[in-house]
Amino acid sequence: MTKTEATIGIIGGDGIGPEVTAQSRRILEWFAVHRGLKVNLIDAPYGATAYERFGTMLPDETRKLLHSAKAILFGSLGGPEYETIPVADRRLGSLLAVRSDLDLFANLRPVKSSPALHEVSSLKNRVLEGVDLVIVRELTGGIYFGQPRGVETLPNGEKRGVNTHSYTSSQIRRVAREALKLAAMRRGLLCSVDKGNVMEAGELWRAEVQSVRDAEFPEVTLTHMLADNCAMQLVRAPAQFDVIVTDNLFGDVLSDCAAMITGSLGMLPSASLGPRKPDGSRAALYEPIHGSAPDIAGRGIANPLGSILSVAMMLRLSFDAPEEATQLEAAVTRALEAGARTGDIAIDGELRIGTAAMGDQVLRQLEQG
Ligand code: IPM
Ligand code: MG
Repeated sequence: MTKTEATIGIIGGDGIGPEVTAQSRRILEWFAVHRGLKVNLIDAPYGATAYERFGTMLPDETRKLLHSAKAILFGSLGGPEYETIPVADRRLGSLLAVRSDLDLFANLRPVKSSPALHEVSSLKNRVLEGVDLVIVRELTGGIYFGQPRGVETLPNGEKRGVNTHSYTSSQIRRVAREALKLAAMRRGLLCSVDKGNVMEAGELWRAEVQSVRDAEFPEVTLTHMLADNCAMQLVRAPAQFDVIVTDNLFGDVLSDCAAMITGSLGMLPSASLGPRKPDGSRAALYEPIHGSAPDIAGRGIANPLGSILSVAMMLRLSFDAPEEATQLEAAVTRALEAGARTGDIAIDGELRIGTAAMGDQVLRQLEQG
C-alpha cells in the first residue's frame, strides 16, 4: 500500500452523484482509520450546482485538484439544470472535456455476476453462471471527439448533422496495450470489437490490435468480433468473455448492455486511466457508470454500490492495495447475500433500503470481515 499521504479529489457533481459519493467517502474514511490508508480527502464543486454558484461548471480549484490528486472519485454529471447553461459553457466543463484534459484514454468497466443478484437480472441463471469480464473502452477518441462535427443548414434549408469517427494508430495501440496487459494478468483472452466490415477505421482498429498482440503479447489469445455480434453474445453467452477492448462509442453501448448481467446499471464501477508518467504514476478517475438519474436525485434512494465498487478499483489501481480492494468487494457481496437491496436491485416484496443504509450495511460487513 502507498506509504505517503495522497490526495483523493471527491467530486460528487450532479443528480445522485453527491449522494452515492458520500457513501464511498465513508468507506475511504473507514480504510484510513482501520487499515492505515494514508489519504487526504478533498471535496470540490463541479457541474450544474457549481455553475449556479460560480458561473462555471468547472471552477479553477476543481481543475487544479483534477490535475494534482493521486485519484479522483467522481459521482455524475447531467440533469435538467443543463438546459439553462449556455452550450459553450457546457462544453468547456463537460465530462468529455475532463476526460480529454486528463488524457484518460483507458476506461475499465468490470462486469461480474453476483449469485445473490441472479434473480434481479433479466437473464437466466445458467447464462449468468461464472460471468467475470472487463470491457476496456477507449475514452478520448472516436466519434465522441472527431472533427468535423456540428449541425449545418444546407442551401435548400434542410439541416445536416455531422459527427466524425476517426482513430490514429497510436490511439488504438495504446488502449490495445492496456487491454492486452490486463488479459495477460487474467485468463489470457482478449476479444477486440469493431465494425471493420463497414468502417475503414474499424479495419485499422483490428489490424493495430492484432499487431500489438503479435509483437508484444504472444501469450494472449486474441479474437476479433463485430460490434453487433458482441451485443448479441453479451446476452447469449457472456461467460465466454475475459477482456473486451473496443472504441469509445461501442464501449459506451456495450457496457450498458453488459450491466444487465449484474441486474442494474447501479452496480457497475469504472476506472479511467491516463498514460503512465516517468515516475510510474498516472491520472485516474473512478466513477460508477450510471448517470445522474435526475428522476430519483435528492431522495436518498440511489444505489451507492457502483460508486463503492469504484473505490475498490481505486484501492487496487491507484493505491496498490489489492487485499483491501478484495476485502471491500467481499463486504459488498456479503451485504447483498444478507439481503441489502436498494430499489433498483429489489424484486417483488423485498425490503428496500436507502443509499445511506446501504453504506451502513457495507461498513458493517467491513467491520466483521
Ligand atoms: C458513460 C456515459 C457518458 C458517455 C455520458 C454521460 C456522456 O454514458 O460514461 O458511459 O457517453 O461516455
Ligand atoms: Mg454510457
